[in-house]
Amino acid sequence: MLKDWLRPYVRPLPQWSPVAIVPPSQIVVATLRWVGNSADVTTDHTVASLNPLMIATSFDAGQLPTLEYSDSATGKALGILRLVRADSIAAEEAAITLYHVKAGAHRCLGWPRRSWNAWLQNRSMLKNRASGHLNMEPAAAQHLMIAYLRPRPVVLVSVDAPGHRNIFPMDLIGPLERSGFFSLALRSTNVSQPIMREVRRVALSSMPASMKATVYKLSEHHKQPLANWDALPFPLRPSREFGIPAVAAALRVRELTIVHSQEIGLHTFFLCRIASDENWAEGDQLHHTAGFHQAYRHRQGMPFKEV
Ligand SMILES: Cc1cc2nc3c(=O)[nH]c(=O)nc-3n(C[C@H](O)[C@H](O)[C@H](O)COP(=O)(O)O)c2cc1C
Repeated sequence: MLKDWLRPYVRPLPQWSPVAIVPPSQIVVATLRWVGNSADVTTDHTVASLNPLMIATSFDAGQLPTLEYSDSATGKALGILRLVRADSIAAEEAAITLYHVKAGAHRCLGWPRRSWNAWLQNRSMLKNRASGHLNMEPAAAQHLMIAYLRPRPVVLVSVDAPGHRNIFPMDLIGPLERSGFFSLALRSTNVSQPIMREVRRVALSSMPASMKATVYKLSEHHKQPLANWDALPFPLRPSREFGIPAVAAALRVRELTIVHSQEIGLHTFFLCRIASDENWAEGDQLHHTAGFHQAYRHRQGMPFKEV
């Protein structure tokens, strides 16, 4: 058994911490900065793909903007990503800009623990490469953890089409507020991805933190469709307009109409419009944040509730 004081020196922090947060949360704010300008993009940026790691936002912030995450209560800068403009997507009357993440740094751990922890994490990722679970380079994974400084809510996505039904967890999702889109970044190998491009509608159930184990178990449905809605271990309730089976215990259910989809690296990036939005309950929603963010909050005496 490792002594508590020794643990941080030999074991990396987890890359992700599952935590319970009551939505909507503004605990961490995101600011996009570019020559002489800045914009609050807390609810207007999202991950568009993991490999390459790309960020999407409604703002065109020139060639080399930065994306900064800070604690809204204390103003403390938690981390920064350096972006390079890559492309834009025109959909309906709006435009979305895509940026490559070129560099990044966080300030959740002091030096030298920051570098040592990154080294331990990277070493462990490279070991897992052999088992085929590493789908991005360690440097990009470090940048992705910085993007998770703003805790990302977890939803279950329901797909219902003739001859195909499915429900699986996602957290690479989010509003692009200024343009009114809601985006999803889904690995193109997901078994429902071609069906979603065809039927162009899904329902998102915002998941209570208490259902973490059930949510994680459903990740197998990224690879195989659901045989039968009755096979699920929880009650369902039809979504308002489309009648898609959603989780009856969800905090909130949104129906999305997919208006644009394109492949970006290993992911399919969906731009959607919200067709309906219903609050079914209040309470803690399952979120993911970076392990070093939770470690920082522990040191400040204000950890997120762990689940
Ligand atoms: C809580 C949770 C959220 C996930 N969010 C996404 C997502 O947003 N996009 C995606 O393509 N896959 C998502 N996945 C799927 C995983 O990345 C992975 O593909 C899946 O769990 C299968 O794992 P494996 O390929 O390592 O076997 C999520 C999985 C979990 C458990």
